[in-house]
Amino acid sequence: MLDLPQRPRRNRQSAAIRGLCRETALSPGSLIYPLFVHDRDTDEEIASMPGCRRWSLDGLVGEVAEAHQLGVRAVALFPAVDDALKTPGAEECHNDDGLVQRAVRAIKADSPEVAVVTDVALDPYNSDGHDGLVAGDGRILNDETVAVLCEQALSQARAGADIVAPSDMMDGRVGAIRQALDEGGFRSVSILSYTAKYASAYYGPFRGALDSAPKAGDKKTYQMDPANAREALREAALDVDEGADMIMVKPAGPYLDIVALLAAEFDVPVAAYQVSGEYLMIQSAAAAGWVDREKVILESLLGIRRAGASAILTYFAKEAAGWLGA
Ligand code: PBG
Repeated sequence: MLDLPQRPRRNRQSAAIRGLCRETALSPGSLIYPLFVHDRDTDEEIASMPGCRRWSLDGLVGEVAEAHQLGVRAVALFPAVDDALKTPGAEECHNDDGLVQRAVRAIKADSPEVAVVTDVALDPYNSDGHDGLVAGDGRILNDETVAVLCEQALSQARAGADIVAPSDMMDGRVGAIRQALDEGGFRSVSILSYTAKYASAYYGPFRGALDSAPKAGDKKTYQMDPANAREALREAALDVDEGADMIMVKPAGPYLDIVALLAAEFDVPVAAYQVSGEYLMIQSAAAAGWVDREKVILESLLGIRRAGASAILTYFAKEAAGWLGA
């Protein structure tokens, strides 16, 4: 027999002892459920994201109520805007009677306790498919875009959004949005900044869901280079300084080092977004019978929590909440 003073397996020998030693908990209260909405009367399966739907307003309200019943207390909304409403100036984004604004009001009327997160970026409304305004020569305009984002955030706040989430990666937008919200009397509306949003191939299926892919070029002049970690510290320092209440890393699974880094270096809560490509990798492997779907989903979420995220955006939110129990 080995003469070992330390036998780590003693701490794993029963479910009761493992429970005492567990460092990380995953619960429905950590989950944010991203939902797609369109201006039609029916709910539609999304071809590029099997298992997700583009909801009608009624369908959306019902889905939020069901998810809430299971313990999900936050949702994030993404609109599929009719092509006819898309313009180079993306003006529809601040139409108080626009799709997202109506969706927020409908959810708040039916499930007032659910926190509603709205995305601040121009891509669903922009005929160019970019998060910012595009100049004649193809450059993405920063300061001009920020002015429109402020209008968008204000319109979402007027509709009743609890948290606005700028996902555009323009410089200075968090500070400008904070100032616009405060001046507009929305001091309690929070900002969840997409702080370290990488120019990732994992967003492909999402752009299919909203038909929001850039018409020309890519997003590399505003989203971050996947090779960079120190740059995330710089972005986070700016966002916190400008008034971000929470900061986000996106994607999540391939960027857990960034989640851990920001959680260690900053004292604001860190969120992580398990994006459409991560969702589909699990969905497709499970559909082929190659992995145990429930176990892999829960493990993927636990890993994101363990890395340091207090909140996780995941298309599995409702199902996971059902498995975890409220
Ligand atoms: C748009 C936005 C994107 C996602 C969330 N907000 C796409 C992009 O930046 O191209 C991706 C989410 C996902 O892939 O699940 N500003």
